[in-house]
Amino acid sequence: MIHPAIEEILRYNGPAEMSNIRWATEDVEYGDRHIRQGDMLFVSFSSANRDPQQFPEPDTFDITRKVNKHIAFGKGVHFCLGAPLARLEGEIAITALLRI
Ligand code: HEM
Repeated sequence: MIHPAIEEILRYNGPAEMSNIRWATEDVEYGDRHIRQGDMLFVSFSSANRDPQQFPEPDTFDITRKVNKHIAFGKGVHFCLGAPLARLEGEIAITALLRI
């Protein structure tokens, strides 16, 4: 279960809570918010990773989730370049801890 456990740790309590700064390149209507061109924005990965529309019972830590499309490493062109290394490091560290 180490691989799904790593993914669930990243979803449930990933270390990168917010994105780097973004600026809106055009006016956008998002829900009831009016985002204007030039506005500074942050994307909350932590919030997205607890979205009940994506994750059933999002506040439950569950390493048996069948689908776990979290965005703990971001998304798109700025997707984390170190994601494979970070996953491997997590796997090695947690496996070692479990053997103690
Ligand atoms: C659990 C560990 C890690 C997490 C959760 C994480 C998370 C993230 C996230 C969320 C972003 C996107 C930020 C944004 O969109 O504003 C990012 C970008 C990045 N990460 Fe990681 N990271 C981790 C480890 C690493 C490691 C080990 C490396 C390098 C060895 C690394 C290198 C990078 C780089 C270079 C970017 C910028 C990519 C770009 O802007 O094109 N990260 N990371």
